[in-house]
Amino acid sequence: MYFIANWKMFGGINSVNSLDKVIKFIKSFKKKKLAKIIYCPPHTLIDSMSKKLKNTNISVGSQNCHEHESYGPFTGSVNCKMLKNVGAKYVIIGHSEVRQSGESNKLINQKIQTAIKSGLKVIFCVGETIHQRKKKLTKKILSTQIKVGLNKIKNKKGIIVAYEPVWSIGTGIIPKPLDLLNTINFIKKRLKNNKILYGGSVNPKNINQLNSINNLDGYLIGGASQVSKKFIDIIKKTYN
Ligand code: PGA
Repeated sequence: MYFIANWKMFGGINSVNSLDKVIKFIKSFKKKKLAKIIYCPPHTLIDSMSKKLKNTNISVGSQNCHEHESYGPFTGSVNCKMLKNVGAKYVIIGHSEVRQSGESNKLINQKIQTAIKSGLKVIFCVGETIHQRKKKLTKKILSTQIKVGLNKIKNKKGIIVAYEPVWSIGTGIIPKPLDLLNTINFIKKRLKNNKILYGGSVNPKNINQLNSINNLDGYLIGGASQVSKKFIDIIKKTYN
């Protein structure tokens, strides 16, 4: 199971020390081989976090990347080569908070192609808004996001997909179990060889309910991942 921590725009240099607890926990955790942990901090912390996690089996990823493979005059942007250079192994692409600022499925596709070429592993986010859900467009939206986002990508196998309904992110609301089961199956039918995760308000209180949906390959965790104790609880409860 994957446990991916998305720190979003949170954390200063001292926040990296909060990982001590997680490192200690995972060292003595009997099922550590089953849990793949990836931390995606803001760009400013990728370097220090990679150093901190050096001799552990916890990896580091970025929350976004630029679509250009090489250096260029793109003020405020960071490319995959630069991310790799400071220790990132993964990159989240297509998060709804980035899509909101105008990122199209086509641009996401370019970013995914570049990330794969650069040797970063992709965590590809898809999900519908509440408006789209109410109009019963969920499947249509997901199909388009997958079709365009993964267009012309030959080796899709290593891509981790995170289903994150936009209305679930940061709201405390999670989908009903049967709805989630069906949506994950819908994605799995299209992407038979990919790991499919769920993201949106995952926390220690609802993790048992989520774990009862047994077609999930892990979680993308925002708010709760910033508190080590909560993050550890989520992992522990998953293997109870
Ligand atoms: P959340 O965020 O867990 O705080 O809802 C999830 C995400 O945005 O990846």
